[in-house]
Amino acid sequence: MPSHFVPARRKKVTFQSKKRALCFAILISGTGSNMEALIRKSRQEKALAIKPVLVLSDTEQALGLKKARALGVPAKFLSAKPFKTKLEGGREQVYLRALQKHGADMLCLAGFMRVVKKKLIHGYKQRMLNIHPSLLPKFKGLGTFKRVLASAEKEAGATVHLVELALDGGRILEQARLLIKTDDTAETLKERVQSLEYELYWHALRKRALFFRKKQGLKK
Ligand code: GRF
Repeated sequence: MPSHFVPARRKKVTFQSKKRALCFAILISGTGSNMEALIRKSRQEKALAIKPVLVLSDTEQALGLKKARALGVPAKFLSAKPFKTKLEGGREQVYLRALQKHGADMLCLAGFMRVVKKKLIHGYKQRMLNIHPSLLPKFKGLGTFKRVLASAEKEAGATVHLVELALDGGRILEQARLLIKTDDTAETLKERVQSLEYELYWHALRKRALFFRKKQGLKK
């Protein structure tokens, strides 16, 4: 186990070094466009020392894995079977071990198509972020764009929130919104919302990471 980890009696990830960068990992299942944006933006602001250390995918063929490797970030497929829609039990432990081995202080879910459970949430309490393509608390869950278009809503958008046990129910950190056009389809709306996501997610991660650096007495 690397030296910067306090082996967790409380099973909680804690910082030790006051000098090293704040390290984050990303969990994906597919394309990884948010993942890519987070990696690129963190590098554009190198002086902040917020560093991507690992990408994990529950899907072997995820395009995001290739993108992460091309960007020089360690990227691994980790099966979550036999579960179909959640990450639990022994598989959750495997994920936690990989994250701890790479020294991940924070965790970003970016299109990770599984419900995460207690151990992971506890391990990254207040330090696990997710991005959801709606203006939460409206339109939790899947199939967001079709449901938004079928509603009387005039606005759509994206939300970055902390991950807690209630699905898509953790504290909202940041939101970005846009006006729905009369000729929007689920595809055009998805495209437009996703283009808001990249800036939004980096902004939220950056703010949260700086908050933790300060709280832990790390250098800014
Ligand atoms: C994003 O739209 C995000 O809001 C949702 O899943 C999508 C992932 O897309 N949670 P990508 O893999 O980042 O391209």
